[in-house]
Amino acid sequence: MRIVSGIQPTGNLHLGNYLGAIRNWVQMQDAMAEGSQCLFFLADLHAISMPHVPAQLHAATLEMAAALVACGIDPERSILFNQAQVPAHAELQWLLNGTARMGWLSRMTQFKDKSGKNREGASVALFTYPVLQAADVLLYQATHVPVGEDQKQHLELARDVAQKFNNDFCAEDAPVFTLPEPIIPPEAARIMSLRDGTAKMSKSDPSDMARINLTDDADTIMQKVRKARTDPEPLPSELAGLEGRPEAANLVGIYAVMAGTGREAVLRDFGGQGFGAFKPALGELLVAKLAPINQRFTELKADREALDAILARGALRAHEIARPTLNAAYKALGLVRGR
Ligand code: TRP
Repeated sequence: MRIVSGIQPTGNLHLGNYLGAIRNWVQMQDAMAEGSQCLFFLADLHAISMPHVPAQLHAATLEMAAALVACGIDPERSILFNQAQVPAHAELQWLLNGTARMGWLSRMTQFKDKSGKNREGASVALFTYPVLQAADVLLYQATHVPVGEDQKQHLELARDVAQKFNNDFCAEDAPVFTLPEPIIPPEAARIMSLRDGTAKMSKSDPSDMARINLTDDADTIMQKVRKARTDPEPLPSELAGLEGRPEAANLVGIYAVMAGTGREAVLRDFGGQGFGAFKPALGELLVAKLAPINQRFTELKADREALDAILARGALRAHEIARPTLNAAYKALGLVRGR
């Protein structure tokens, strides 16, 4: 089993990022059997498909690397790197551009969403984004790729590209690429804003009170939870009672994932109690779970040397795994590169 996944570097990491992809990766890493392997990378090459500020991308890449380690990605057990340090990603993308079809890419909903009404003005990189994503996983013979529901279509494209390449350029008994399976978490925790239970917790929310940042200290966390928007009713004892109460549902959901239980169990304990009792309990739970992450994150962010070393070593290990597949792809296409 070889698990490969990427995440775009964004600044301002918050609880929503942690409880989304990152925690899921840590759980997979921790469950890996002998002989299996996880590769996790920062998709910095993908980030240039949209308008961006170079200095911010640089800072966000380092910050995200620090966050992944702080949250539990162990750079010894997993291979952690950023795409820009492994040129094989960009190389394989070009090779796969000969296999991917215009029609396939035109059907990608993310391209349609992100280009919006301005298709003519979208970058070519935004259009071929899914081909780079295919290269990301095919390069390592990934067997499994954990992604959110929104990335399922890109994974299917990666399988189509692999299949067509194998068909067109390889002997039947010697395919170059493995077809990867997506792993989509069953109930991807959707963490909502603390100010509005119908909007996603977001780094771009103008109110900092709407989110819990990985850099928030204990006092700030307690204060944000205390001030979180709620309704005046006590908590229900049954799940059905959360319907139509998005803020209450969000806080109960956060408690459940942080405690590692179900929402039913949380309601069993807190049903009938008001937010005056529930909020301090939630705040304390968040502080207890986030304090070690916060501490490690702050230390690592300040230790540029350690971060550089982690990413350089990860890139080296990734390159080792990628090399035979990249060579095989060049060869299958009839590209001459000396001997
Ligand atoms: N496109 C993914 C996202 O936005 C990030 C990504 C890039 C990725 N390359 C990948 C995810 C390869 C899985 C595998 O979430």
